[in-house]
Amino acid sequence: NSNSQEPLKNVLVTGGAGYIGSHVIYTLLRTHKYKVISIDNYHNSFPAALTRVSELALTELKAASDSQPSTQDIDSTAIDVHECDLNAASAVRSIFSSYSSKGGIWGVIHIAAYKAVGESSEIPLTYYANNVAATISLLQTMQEFGCMRLIYSSSATVYGVPPDIPIKEETRREGDSVYGRTKVMCELIIQDFCDSVMNDSGKLEDFISSYFPPVFQPAGAHPSGYIGEHPRGRPENLLPLLAHMAVGTVTDPVLKVFGNDYPTPDGTCIRDYLHILDLAAGHVVALQALEEGSELNAKVFASSIQSQGRFKAYNLGKGHGMSVMQIVDAMRKATGHDYKTEVIGRRRGDVPELIADPALARAELGFDAPRDLETMCRDLWNWQVKNPTGYE
Ligand code: WQD
Repeated sequence: NSNSQEPLKNVLVTGGAGYIGSHVIYTLLRTHKYKVISIDNYHNSFPAALTRVSELALTELKAASDSQPSTQDIDSTAIDVHECDLNAASAVRSIFSSYSSKGGIWGVIHIAAYKAVGESSEIPLTYYANNVAATISLLQTMQEFGCMRLIYSSSATVYGVPPDIPIKEETRREGDSVYGRTKVMCELIIQDFCDSVMNDSGKLEDFISSYFPPVFQPAGAHPSGYIGEHPRGRPENLLPLLAHMAVGTVTDPVLKVFGNDYPTPDGTCIRDYLHILDLAAGHVVALQALEEGSELNAKVFASSIQSQGRFKAYNLGKGHGMSVMQIVDAMRKATGHDYKTEVIGRRRGDVPELIADPALARAELGFDAPRDLETMCRDLWNWQVKNPTGYE
């Protein structure tokens, strides 16, 4: 009942209405431990996603409890929604200050970013402003309000062309696109900031951070088909593009395959696809690892207080990859659509193979990504069929 419950912790998710953001918020809501706050400028997302996430969490809460759920549990399925650009520093400050009388913002999961690799080289200043300057502004506001915990959702592109496959966390960063460089810079900024707030006894007094590249390609959707991926405009990524081709909202006669002369078994690029709900769970368990006094926190930070501040990177992936042609085959089976493919030249910025080594996340966070490719494709297709034009 409600009086024996811990009070909800206020957690801010930036980019909350996006594909990763909405599934991370869904996962946070279902723990009933947090009051979730979303900040999003809806540049590449829709506010309707947040309405649906909240409805889904409430429906599942009512279905799960044989008795009337507690007021607090019901309250924990409501999201505080703010339409706001992270570069609007005064607006972000006022959001933080509005929680000062309610226990303050306990932690931040920072997901908001522009992420189109090709576009990023056409409008670099927009990408540096939106991805890097906004992160600096957010960190300054967090510091001002004493908000001590950060999960930064990075990206596999920070590894450029990795020297070894599968990729471990200590692999050097080398963003080989503007987008990738914005992610590398944010990681370095967060690391330097963490180090700066170390006190002389080597114990981090007031800032704890953890980030990890969702090393790969998040795929799929919530199995209800009620929330899913809906980028504004034409989908650039392989899986959403295939889903739109099958449902007819993209009428390309063939799927253009960007090169089949890579050093891989079938010549097409390999990626480590993981289900969006497994990726979301990885974000939430990392947030829980920032809870001082929790055994997860002790385990995660036991080895790193001296070395690099309270700052950890975790690669999230399945540890094996699928090629473009294997993805096309999997979507052929899931959708029944007979895709035609045409091999054309390589796409600038593509790398042959990106496969995570998830050993550290498994060992320290207990992270796992059990949902298989068939499940990802089935859930993606279920979302697309039910919502051919997404949230619009
Ligand atoms: C996958 C493979 C393409 C479309 C990107 C970002 C990454 C992350 C996820 C943010 C590649 C091939 C694709 C098509 C094709 N975003 N392809 N024809 O490039 O691995 O990752 O999105 O964090 O940072 O880089 O994903 O789905 O675009 O491509 O042949 O029409 O499919 O060449 O080999 P990618 P993708």
